[in-house]
Amino acid sequence: MESIKGWKRTHTCGELNLDSVGKDVTLMGWVHSRRDLGKLIFVDLRDREGITQVVFDPQVSQSAYEKAKQLKDEYVIAIKGKVDRRVKGQENPKLVTGEIEVKVESLKILNSSDILPFQIHGAVDGSETLRLKYRYLEMRRHEVMEVFRLRHKIASFIRNYFDKKGFIEVETPFLTKSTPEGARDYLVPSRVHKGKFYALPQSPQLFKQILMIAGFDRYYQIVRCFRDEDLRADRQPEFTQVDVEMSFVDEEDVMGVFEEMIKRLFKKVLDYEVKTPIPRLSYEDAIERFGSDKPDLRFGMEIHDITEPLKESEFKIFLNVISAGGRIKAIKLKDQGFSRKELDGISEEVKNYGASGILWARVIKDGWQSPVKKYVQDEKKKEINQILDAKEGDLILMIADKNDVATKALGMLRCSLARRLGLLEKEKFDFVWIKNFPLLQYNEEEHRLEPMHHPFTSPLDEDIELLEKEPLKVKAKAYDLVLNGQEIGGGSIRIHNLELQNKIFKIIGISEQEAQKKFGFFLEALRYGAPPHGGMALGFDRLVAIMTGKESIREVIPFPKTTSAICPLTGAPSEVDEEQLRNFGK
Ligand code: AMO
Repeated sequence: MESIKGWKRTHTCGELNLDSVGKDVTLMGWVHSRRDLGKLIFVDLRDREGITQVVFDPQVSQSAYEKAKQLKDEYVIAIKGKVDRRVKGQENPKLVTGEIEVKVESLKILNSSDILPFQIHGAVDGSETLRLKYRYLEMRRHEVMEVFRLRHKIASFIRNYFDKKGFIEVETPFLTKSTPEGARDYLVPSRVHKGKFYALPQSPQLFKQILMIAGFDRYYQIVRCFRDEDLRADRQPEFTQVDVEMSFVDEEDVMGVFEEMIKRLFKKVLDYEVKTPIPRLSYEDAIERFGSDKPDLRFGMEIHDITEPLKESEFKIFLNVISAGGRIKAIKLKDQGFSRKELDGISEEVKNYGASGILWARVIKDGWQSPVKKYVQDEKKKEINQILDAKEGDLILMIADKNDVATKALGMLRCSLARRLGLLEKEKFDFVWIKNFPLLQYNEEEHRLEPMHHPFTSPLDEDIELLEKEPLKVKAKAYDLVLNGQEIGGGSIRIHNLELQNKIFKIIGISEQEAQKKFGFFLEALRYGAPPHGGMALGFDRLVAIMTGKESIREVIPFPKTTSAICPLTGAPSEVDEEQLRNFGK
């Protein structure tokens, strides 16, 4: 192997063009491919910026030509040579450098490469685990590298935006105490204080609130969070948030800051016009109309209640459900010509979502084609068509069940149908704010009330009086930002009044003692002039994944874990030495 001593790179592999013809250049990079034509050897030389064709011609340099015979894929080389126009007909219009080549006068082989575990270029082969094990090789793929360039661009845009708005970036500790975001903590044992643990933060929630108490006024941080939870395509054990907190604000102030950022970001990075104001839906409406608090608005299939017109039907299932207090809910879509078998399949599918099955009706010229057509009077069919805005050539799918079961099942069905029917356009970005969440929810397993977000979320002022008598009716000053059916952010106005904070702890069954133990430091801080404040955090990985059209956030995280929380590259988690454990008093 040779050293680069005395050689300085003059250009990248992505910048030489016809204007450079005649220049003496020095390039360094990887052998992307090599073609030995006998009299000439062509190498596509690659670096981060692109590919340049370099030619080894014995007439130019016999020694470089001889040496070039050893080159294999992914060898690292440096060349010196002269830029020349390519022979007519040999140009590659796809490359910036496609009209030129470099005639090599001197070659240095800086490093060799073993045979690759999978093919880097061309079609993706190799399992995800294998690709993550050799993530650095996968990153050599242009498309993968581009994702990280874009991630960087988005991050620097965001930093710049918040900086201009007067936010101060403050770092908060990773070795800290548990934060209540509802997941399990990752714990780090203390060597100095045997038997004691730090927790990695699930978010900087309490620190950012403390920064408000400190008078920072406007804080932001692009920060790593750690949560030990079941992993999915949109969940990683460590992920990044764009975390923000502001003083003397209401919900709309915080939402406004993010809304403007999103609008500008999409314009700048994707040249996409996000329509503002982003629509706002109450939690209740989102559930009623889309069966989800993160509705995907890219396609229709809105859920409607068709109980009224079916009250007088003669169909037993409808009548039984209605008399038991249930509802009949429906969605409509273009008739896809589903076979009976496919419709039965849909019925089976909704059973997995907890509903008892589906009833269907095809809207045809003179009424319905449906197993229930004879039980529903003609004018009621018309009424239902009207509610759903269903026309000839549409298919109506109905579920008769308890209200929340029917709604939730249709909510999941509409998404799965949209996926199957190819209605999830990747270039469309439909945002919606969800507001007025309930403050509390009932935990069936533990038979207690728990916060829907975190316990520092403020109730609506007008609902405070309901806290004791009808806690489940209390709405929160909380908001989520949803993009294409994914929750990409959430936040709230916080409680800044100690008395109210203690009251909430009491309602969710956290004793004074427990509150002191867990959050005593924070409750203490609330005593010293805490300003009204609120904030929000964006799931940065989710945002980047959607902006780059990726299915999973693993594709936009440089070194992600698998769904079983393993890092294939390093092999973490792994056993540690006895010696290390002894340090912790084991
Ligand atoms: P929340 O828990 O809603 O709020 O998190 C904010 C956003 O972070 C993203 N997110 C995740 N992304 C990847 N992997 C995960 N495991 C994961 N968990 C959450 C989501 C989510 O909307 N402290 C509050 C914010 C606040 O109130 O200001 C918080 O962390 O996109």
